[in-house]
Amino acid sequence: MNSTSDLLSHFMTNMRELPINELTFEHFKQLVMPLQLTNAVIEQHLQFNDDTYTRHFVCRTPQFDLLLLGWKTGQFSSIHDHSNSWSAVRVIRGILTSRTFKIVDNQLKRMPARLVSEEEGHKEQWAFLDRGEVHQLGNVAPENLVTMHVYSPPLRTMTYYFTDSTQTEQIQVHP
Ligand SMILES: [Fe+2]
Repeated sequence: MNSTSDLLSHFMTNMRELPINELTFEHFKQLVMPLQLTNAVIEQHLQFNDDTYTRHFVCRTPQFDLLLLGWKTGQFSSIHDHSNSWSAVRVIRGILTSRTFKIVDNQLKRMPARLVSEEEGHKEQWAFLDRGEVHQLGNVAPENLVTMHVYSPPLRTMTYYFTDSTQTEQIQVHP
């Protein structure tokens, strides 16, 4: 197996082997990490926008979503969770800034989102988000950033959080 289209069909096959509720986060990581997109697929779906980062659905299957995102310098996502989905993000080009947030205190009371860590992801590196975790992704580097995102199961809703308020916003996610 050496072509990247084979890698996508192999990933699809592997993801179908187990019911999604029997898959563990660690197993999902092992399955997704060999996944790459061909340059042809990347160029077909990739765009940049001066106003906001762009997101393009490459495919939605019953087991996962596969997206390609393009980020210009200074563009960031909202602070958000992925509801009941895992998130796996691979850096294709550029440098990813990945921030994780805490949104409850020790008594499990909701508080404004508080930054707990910030990491850089470089080409070929992965950033993972477990169910219930909250993060924000973006690009502070001078060059454009391109990332591949796999959500499993497919992401239907997500919640936005804020650093200055305990309010939240529920978002529907459509391909
Ligand atoms: Fe995310």
